[in-house]
Amino acid sequence: MPLAIDLFCGLGGWTEGLLAEGWDVVGFDIKRHVYGEHHYPAQLVVQDVLTLHGSQFRDASLIVASPPCQEFSYMAMPWRRGKQIAAALRGDGEFPEGYTGSRTVADLTRLFDACFRIQREACEAVGRKIPMVVENVRGAESWVGRSKRNFGSFYLWGDVPLLIGRYKFFKNPGTEVYIRNNKLCTHRTSRTSRTRLTRVTGAGSASYQAANIAKVPMPLSRSIGRFYARKFARVG
Ligand SMILES: C[S@@+](CC[C@H](N)C(=O)[O-])C[C@H]1O[C@@H](n2cnc3c(N)ncnc32)[C@H](O)[C@@H]1O
Repeated sequence: MPLAIDLFCGLGGWTEGLLAEGWDVVGFDIKRHVYGEHHYPAQLVVQDVLTLHGSQFRDASLIVASPPCQEFSYMAMPWRRGKQIAAALRGDGEFPEGYTGSRTVADLTRLFDACFRIQREACEAVGRKIPMVVENVRGAESWVGRSKRNFGSFYLWGDVPLLIGRYKFFKNPGTEVYIRNNKLCTHRTSRTSRTRLTRVTGAGSASYQAANIAKVPMPLSRSIGRFYARKFARVG
């Protein structure tokens, strides 16, 4: 079975789809997410992705990654504090009082950039291209460049196949998610829907809901998994 690496694997949205398409998967996350019966579904390595060197993935045929998106999402919100942070990061004015986030653009994008460093190191180590798909939010585009494609609120960078299936079902279409006062909130950004703020209620902790809402939807992960499994079968 081909091996895929899931960086920032969380609850394993990428991994679930890849397993279903016949991949072996090893996930890396700084934290073991366990919320009752919900947990990462494959082998998990609890490690800071920044400490990884791509040469350890010489046996991998695919890398998928979902670096954290909270800061990008927050700055995409239509309120003054987010705009002030974005301006300060660009060298225009001061950071707001009590701000504890990234202070430079390099700091802001370092986990996103680490994915591409790891891919480059892996490819150099093995002497061939190992494809990688990185998922994040629309708000990241202002800082890391345009995405190749999006599935609802899931924006994709890297080696995104052009001909992956189209789905009627999008999880959280046009929605950005953030945590405020320990409550999970969503903000609709779709042009077709009115801007509104929703406080998400219901069972479970805010951290479970945040992890679950960030989970890559199965149709998307299966589609990428199927595309690269077929390609791997043809080439490898
Ligand atoms: C957007 S979530 C991943 C969602 C995941 N793809 C899914 O489908 O469930 C980002 C994850 O990055 C993890 N994380 C944050 N900083 C990290 C770091 N430095 N190294 C490894 N994981 C990190 C968080 O614990 C979180 O699970």
